[in-house]
Amino acid sequence: MGVGQIYTVPIRMFVVQPTPGAAKADLYRELATQLAALLADERHGLANAANTAALLHQGLPDLNWAGFYFVVDDELVLGPFQGKVACVRIALGRGVCGTAAQRRETIVVPDIEKFPGHIACDHASRSEVVVPLVQHGRLVGVLDLDSPSPARFDAEDAKGLETLAEIFLRSSDLGGLVPTSTKGQKHDVGSNRTS
Ligand code: SME
Repeated sequence: MGVGQIYTVPIRMFVVQPTPGAAKADLYRELATQLAALLADERHGLANAANTAALLHQGLPDLNWAGFYFVVDDELVLGPFQGKVACVRIALGRGVCGTAAQRRETIVVPDIEKFPGHIACDHASRSEVVVPLVQHGRLVGVLDLDSPSPARFDAEDAKGLETLAEIFLRSSDLGGLVPTSTKGQKHDVGSNRTS
């Protein structure tokens, strides 16, 4: 590159801000459009997970943590996130994340103190929602959101986040992030999400 030469890289700007008072369904529809556009030209799993976590943290109100855990052997291992530092490894079946992964069911926890075995990473967290990630019938991880407000998440959030998780899954190659292994797939009782 010669002196004075300027290279420009086209970067689309995403400005996502919750509109005060907007209906949840509208917010999730807008986020789905934004996420699909954000991931449209990229299939790198790590990059897409990082941008998905950032978009959710920026676009959803009242969160203190938003991010991913991915299945490595028989554990969940911390992936890209926004928020305070978090525990790195969670066994399948443990905590909210491990339970959602094992059951392959979205879990909404209105009061984390009432969830037996809840793993506290940020002591500010009061409520949580975890969506399992199943790609081509294979459990690959979970999407986890925490809030400092009690009962921050409801069934509408669960549905909206499941849609966003599907967009992430169908837009991303996760082979390099989630090693193929028979471990961690022992609870393979049918998929509730494919892409
Ligand atoms: N609370 C989670 C652990 C992950 S953090 O919240 C980021 C759980 O109980 O599995």
